[in-house]
Amino acid sequence: MKYAIIAGTGFEKVQELNESHIVKTPYGKVKVYLGRIKETEYFYIPRHGENHTIAPHKINYRANAYALKELDVDITFSLCAVGSVKEELPPGSLVLIKDIIDRTKLRESTFYDGEKLPLKHLDVSNIYCKNLREKLKTSFQTCTSLNLKEGVYVCTEGPRFETAAEIKEFALIGGDVVGMTNAPEIFLFAEMGFYSATIAYVTNYCTGITNEKVEMIDTYRVMDRDIKKSIENTILSLENLDELGERSIFI
Ligand code: HPA
Repeated sequence: MKYAIIAGTGFEKVQELNESHIVKTPYGKVKVYLGRIKETEYFYIPRHGENHTIAPHKINYRANAYALKELDVDITFSLCAVGSVKEELPPGSLVLIKDIIDRTKLRESTFYDGEKLPLKHLDVSNIYCKNLREKLKTSFQTCTSLNLKEGVYVCTEGPRFETAAEIKEFALIGGDVVGMTNAPEIFLFAEMGFYSATIAYVTNYCTGITNEKVEMIDTYRVMDRDIKKSIENTILSLENLDELGERSIFI
């Protein structure tokens, strides 16, 4: 099984990867890095670019997914910075995403739109692979002393933050954290047949959750606390990945 990490805000600069390839796809070129921890190799894409210059709505999600398919990837781990709509998920929390509410508006969200590929409808009932999540939770418990909660991700178009009224709505409809990138990333990965999981790290309370102005904690400093190492160790310690079950299907 080959796997890839797609990393968000805060993860770009702590990487020490010096090998990369340019992968050409029908949707554009993608620079994919090669990482290695002990014996295990993985592909790595910093989705906002190395220097955090690509806005969430301008990320070439289709090219990234296609490039990973070209590299025969089976499993993807998306790491996403998020705001929290729940007091009990303070900045610094790690959240394993179990479902998503997609509030994006402007993004190409499928390969199967009847243009390059025929129109198809994706089944999204196991979009965050349940078996992979179970394995991640077990591995996380064994490898780290950190707490991994579970939650629902609301994806907004960005790059602006949300209004207090929007956040109130998201809390009412079952959202736990809000980010700007996991849609359409997770849907495109499913269309490519990957098993996928998303680990979100809370950088701030969303607008209106506390009386204070929204302020992101310094994600780079948070990463210094070795969260990144813990996540990597967790991923590397996953076992029996050939038992993940059915890949995504089209209806
Ligand atoms: N909203 C949307 N995306 C985010 C936030 C937020 O509060 N924090 C980090 N990414």
